[in-house]
Amino acid sequence: MKKILVIGSGISGLMCAIRCAGRGIQTTLVSPYPSERAQSVMAAGGINAVLSFSDEGDTVESHIEDTLKGGAYLGGKNAVGGLCSRAPEIIRYLENIGTVFSLDPEGRPARRAFGGQSHKRTYYCGSSTGKQIVSALVMEARRFEAEGLIERRLGSFFHSALIEDGVCRGALLFDERSGELDTVNADALVMAVGGQNALFGKTTGSTLCDGYAAGRLFTQGVTLKNLEFIQYHPTTLETAQKRMLVTEAVRGEGGRLFYEENGKRVYFMEDKYGPRGNLMTRDVISREIDACGRDVYLDISFLDGRLIDERLPEVRDLCRKYRNIDIKKEPIPVAPSVHFFMGGLAVRLNHETNIENLFAVGECASMYHGANRLGGNSLLAAVYSGTVAADEIAGRESAPKTPDFGGFLRDEREKLKKQAESKSPLPVMMMRDALAKTMREHLGIVRNAESLERGISDIDGDLDAAARLRFDPSVSPYANYSLSGILTTARATLTCALARRESRGAHFRSDYPETSADFAYPTLISYDGGAYRVSYDREGSYEN
Ligand code: FUM
Repeated sequence: MKKILVIGSGISGLMCAIRCAGRGIQTTLVSPYPSERAQSVMAAGGINAVLSFSDEGDTVESHIEDTLKGGAYLGGKNAVGGLCSRAPEIIRYLENIGTVFSLDPEGRPARRAFGGQSHKRTYYCGSSTGKQIVSALVMEARRFEAEGLIERRLGSFFHSALIEDGVCRGALLFDERSGELDTVNADALVMAVGGQNALFGKTTGSTLCDGYAAGRLFTQGVTLKNLEFIQYHPTTLETAQKRMLVTEAVRGEGGRLFYEENGKRVYFMEDKYGPRGNLMTRDVISREIDACGRDVYLDISFLDGRLIDERLPEVRDLCRKYRNIDIKKEPIPVAPSVHFFMGGLAVRLNHETNIENLFAVGECASMYHGANRLGGNSLLAAVYSGTVAADEIAGRESAPKTPDFGGFLRDEREKLKKQAESKSPLPVMMMRDALAKTMREHLGIVRNAESLERGISDIDGDLDAAARLRFDPSVSPYANYSLSGILTTARATLTCALARRESRGAHFRSDYPETSADFAYPTLISYDGGAYRVSYDREGSYEN
């Protein structure tokens, strides 16, 4: 029987597992925590599609064009075409498995306006769309668990891929309870590990999405893509632990951004961009807020309180709970914060990386969003990419007999043992905090060469220290062994940002403020015996 291993149990991982299990493939779904704690549950605003009752004049072609334009034309045409064309089918599937969409007065799924889109096409579940989709997919996965086709492996962390002669045969997993590393063989390995939030510390996302897998796989020969394109969401709320997302849906429902000058409100987005100014793409709004250099607020208090209760209940509650703000009466203080990573593992249209049988889906794969993602397209891409990868895997033959990875397992176990026995202190959390500070300082909304070079030199120092110093007993073994991989992803990201000497989408260089035809291609980065090699995909080799 064919066997696959899916790492990560958010929406893209669940979708891939369900679809593989539905084809009779034995699927192991691995994650440290249950799906209910995946980053996917934080996705608030909605999922894009053009349905038969969408806005008059809306078409799949215009969804495609908005997505390409929003991504500053770095997203692949074929890939985006597939994504948008199958969006209606995806909404129908989600409804069929029990996703509870908000309804319009005619009893059909309700939709709202989202940024950078020419029509209202974002379907939603109040302001907790991701959570509702996760719940429906979890129930679906449980059916296959009951049949023995999906096996859940909770409490396990990805360590490395098993790769021989350019072909992936499974993964090494670290089990938190036993403290042991183990090999799990599979016909295909699917990475669904999310973005790289922990590189920046406080973001709108989960720090469980830490960028380790990308860094580790990079050193194992996997090509990464477009790492410099990091989306700052313009409207987030500062809290002690993280930046809480104030969903774009607030602006979709009419919310207005402003700052105060001489006791008067200045609606700076509307002043500069006209009536749809508050729904410009996220890169544009974040840069405008950054350029204001003063406190910015988002006002929705003029909306009928019943509509706030119906359409934005989670925003109402989080503002009340974390900052004691009543959004029905007062504006919300907002600031941009890291929200989404357009870059990640480079994949082809079938979601396979440059290593055979190694796939990536969801946010950890770089494919659809180019230089900047449109709100509502990430949930869509999560479901779609899981589907595409599963269909590709289902159509393949089982791998021939798995080679023996016993030697690799012994070596990696030995390394962990040596690390644990070492007496030299490795202050892991201090180093993670320092990394986040470095990344926020040097990979902010606006970057320049001098600052990026300083960032690289800081990370090189940290990588060096991580290689010399050994073990911090105050944190988990995973936190210890993952540090080098996380730093490697950070180093690769800064390297890509330095190499792209132009401004495009979410990558804005104060020393190269114009968009340049020389860089009208996705960035690729690969690891070449310790060197970080950047190139540009001029031939579109990942688009076939
Ligand atoms: O603002 C939001 O609700 C975010 C949605 C998204 O990133 O797709």
